[in-house]
Amino acid sequence: MRVNKAIFPVAGLGTRFLPATKAQPKEMLPVVDKPLIQYAVEEAYAAGIRQMIFVNGRNKRAIPDHFDTGYELEHELEAAGKNELLAMVRSIKPDDMDCIYIRQPKALGLGHAVLCGQCVVVNEPFAVLLADDLMVGEPPVLAQMVEQFNERQASIVAVQEVPKEQTRRYGMVAGTMVNDRLMDMTQFVEKPAPEDAPSNLGVAGRYILTPAVFKEIANVPRGVGGEIQLTDGIASLMRNEKVFAYRYRGERYDCGSKEGFLQANVELALAHPELGAQFRAYLKTLEL
Ligand code: G1P
Repeated sequence: MRVNKAIFPVAGLGTRFLPATKAQPKEMLPVVDKPLIQYAVEEAYAAGIRQMIFVNGRNKRAIPDHFDTGYELEHELEAAGKNELLAMVRSIKPDDMDCIYIRQPKALGLGHAVLCGQCVVVNEPFAVLLADDLMVGEPPVLAQMVEQFNERQASIVAVQEVPKEQTRRYGMVAGTMVNDRLMDMTQFVEKPAPEDAPSNLGVAGRYILTPAVFKEIANVPRGVGGEIQLTDGIASLMRNEKVFAYRYRGERYDCGSKEGFLQANVELALAHPELGAQFRAYLKTLEL
């Protein structure tokens, strides 16, 4: 089984970024010069995935538009001889990549959003990427996970160590280490209090799942926050199939929080081939 499909749940309201997200999706907020959703799509593409499934909500027109042909823009750039910009704009959706849009009619939670993708995924393993987790890794984090999946042919969630006082922000895992990066999972709890967390490993927004998870999600009762939780569906899947937690190599920026979003902007600007040197010099002039 090969991973060729990815679900991007993008129906959230982005209330933490109001007023910026009043009329535009939070996934279109740029980090330096690229919207968050494009980073996630590029990560999936780099992992060999070619079918991108966006689970969309109201007020999200900007996402399909971003991955569509910008006819007028391309025409103007071509006429002005701006060939580099033209190539860059065209590269947003490579010819061998398909974009599929599904509407999530009600905000019933992450598990429900993933379930909305079932009609396209059907019976294949698939990835889930949460665009507000911006992942920087070499090889890219999802490619690392696909490599693990190809070897194990079982579901894999990306994990990292999280500070004890932050367990309420994450799905927390526990299990038996198979090697220094891979854990055979026995527990998966959504957003526990620090004293109830089974370990210090929390899930980042990258998953590779077998299609058997759909049946589990469809049957779990509403969980934390009254929502249908992906975590609960995966915990239920663990009763029938192996599920692994993978300690990825790389950096995660929590762009669902203002602090993480600002950190991503500063660090990616410093690493930017055109802006980096100048931006570093500018930061040094600040009296911090
Ligand atoms: C979701 C998941 C959680 C995971 C987190 C990673 O929560 O429910 O298990 O740890 O993403 O970012 P959210 O941040 O959408 O509340």
